Formats: sequence, C-alpha cells, structure tokens
Amino acid sequence: MPTDSPVVHPAQEEIVSGLSREPPMIPPKYFYDSHGSMLFERITRLPEYYPTRTERSIMGTHGRDMAQRIPAESTVIELGAGNCEKAHELCSLIRPACYVPIDISADFLHDAAQALRDAHPTLDVRPVVADLAADIDLDGEVPAERRLVFYPGSSIGNFEPDDAAGLLSRSRRLLDGDGAMLVGVDLVKEESVLHAAYNDAENVTAAFNLNALAHLNRLIGSNFDLREWRHHAFFNHARSRIEMHLEALVDTTVAWMGGERRFRRGERIHTENSYKYGIEDFAGLLDRAGFSSIVCWTDPRRWFAVFLAHA
Ligand SMILES: C[S@@+](CC[C@H](N)C(=O)[O-])C[C@H]1O[C@@H](n2cnc3c(N)ncnc32)[C@H](O)[C@@H]1O
Repeated sequence: MPTDSPVVHPAQEEIVSGLSREPPMIPPKYFYDSHGSMLFERITRLPEYYPTRTERSIMGTHGRDMAQRIPAESTVIELGAGNCEKAHELCSLIRPACYVPIDISADFLHDAAQALRDAHPTLDVRPVVADLAADIDLDGEVPAERRLVFYPGSSIGNFEPDDAAGLLSRSRRLLDGDGAMLVGVDLVKEESVLHAAYNDAENVTAAFNLNALAHLNRLIGSNFDLREWRHHAFFNHARSRIEMHLEALVDTTVAWMGGERRFRRGERIHTENSYKYGIEDFAGLLDRAGFSSIVCWTDPRRWFAVFLAHA
C-alpha cells in the first residue's frame, strides 16, 4: 500500500529524540564515523591522554600472568575494537585461534581487521559491525568454546553504571560457562590529571567532540554550523565522571529533516560521560553481572586497572 510517511531510520529517531530532550544529548556512539575514529586514534597518542599508554603498560608488565589464566587458542571477542591495536599485543600474549573485533564504525573496523590479517596471516579474523547497546548475536559465526571477551580502553565507562552492568551480563552470556572477560577500567584520580586528558593542548578532543555534529549533519540532514559550538569537558565529582558537552556560542536554530530546535547562547548538548571507578566498585559491578574469580592488575600510580573475571 503506498504511503506518504517518510521512512525514518532508527538512528535518525534516536538522534532526533536526544536533540529534542531537556537538556539535549547525543549518544556517544555518534562520535564514530571514520573521521571520528581517526581523531580518537590521535587522542590515544596525546601526552595528556594517559589511559591508553597506562593500560598498555599494565598489559606489558602483567601480560604473562594474565595469559596463564586464559586458555590457549581462545576465541577473542573484542568490544569497541577501533583500530584493533591492542589485539596485536594480546595476540602475541595468548595466541588466539580466532579474533572477532566488534565495532559500530564499519569502514574503520574493516580496514583495521585487514591490517591485522596482514600482520598475523594465520589468525582467523572475523569483524562484526554491531551496536553494543543492543543484544550481540554471534551464533553460527564464532566458535562457542574458550571465548575471551576483551573490552579495553575503559569504554565501559561511557555507559551509565546500570547499563554497564547490563553490558557485562550480556557479555557473560556470550561465554557459555568456560570463558572469561578482560576489561580495562579508568580509576578515580586527581582532578587535574582527568581534566587535562579531556582538554588537550592541541584541541584534538575538541575536534573529536565537534565532529559528532558533522556526523549528525550527514545522518539526519541537520545544518549544525560547527563554528557556532565549542567543546566543554569537566569532572563531575558527585557522579564520578568526566562529562563532555558542546556549548552554543550564539543563539542559533538548527533544522533537520522534519524538525528543528532553537538553542540559546551557552546552552549545552551532552555528548559523553566517562565514569571513573574505584577498584572495589568495579569489582562489585562484575559480581552483579554474575562473574566470579575476579583478578585485577593496576599500574604503580593506580590510575587504571585491568580486570579478568570468569563466567
Ligand atoms: C574509546 S574508543 C576505544 C577504542 C579501542 N578499543 C581502544 O581501547 O583504544 C571506543 C570504540 O568503541 C566503538 N563504539 C562506541 N560506541 C559503540 C557502540 N554503541 N557499539 C559498538 N561500538 C561502539 C567506537 O567506534 C570506538 O572504536
């Protein structure tokens, strides 16, 4: 039957619903078009951005200990794999038979998977484009036994704690009783260190935050003018999280297919939370998600932690 209603893509519905809220918000997954993924890769190399290099140092120092607790020839399922860089190190530690990087940034993921295949020709690499906020269905695609879910980079901090517990539970359900989860978690620390990590001197984080608006312009046909917005990031003590926002520099009206919104100067769109945990608090989330035999490694400054938990 012919219809006059426009077809609304689920992403468009989600974005417009976020922009129409009070206060407005954009889910952080919309940072990640190919340009956003490339900007995030640059962030990981910034002097102020300690999480990536601190996590790497923990893997370097304690990797053998971790590897002894993970069965050889596992299937590694990496959540939010990005450039798959951490898989190179993990592969040399535990020699998995199969590696399944999952990410929402499709083109970037496929390029990264190809680079990994080139570097490790005997590794079976099977990229999956999926949204971690939904159920992850790997049936038929991936061996069911000896699975390791790997979730580095403290991306778990981008979820509200209840949603993080939900994602951990769904990850545990992928593990079929004999698997484990290895997850990197950013810890609470001095505010100046946190602040600098999300307000770098080269403004790469600002460009990353603003790029969400360019991505939205393509996804919902909006007319955000990036020059009218500025990056704003701060540590919210009460919620133990870094918040990222985009703040309007002028009064402006933004239109998109089928709607519009007026923003006053100084009004903010909330784009990301990054929760910072205490070790006991995060162990509690893993416990709540049904994991057991929880082990944790950290760096000498206790800035970051890597947890291994069994299903
Ligand atoms: C903070 S980056 C971390 C990248 C890499 N794992 C690391 O540790 O450097 C987050 C990654 O998760 C992906 N991502 C974000 N939200 C997602 C979602 N809802 N579903 C799937 N992937 C998502 C992004 O595309 C990005 O590659």
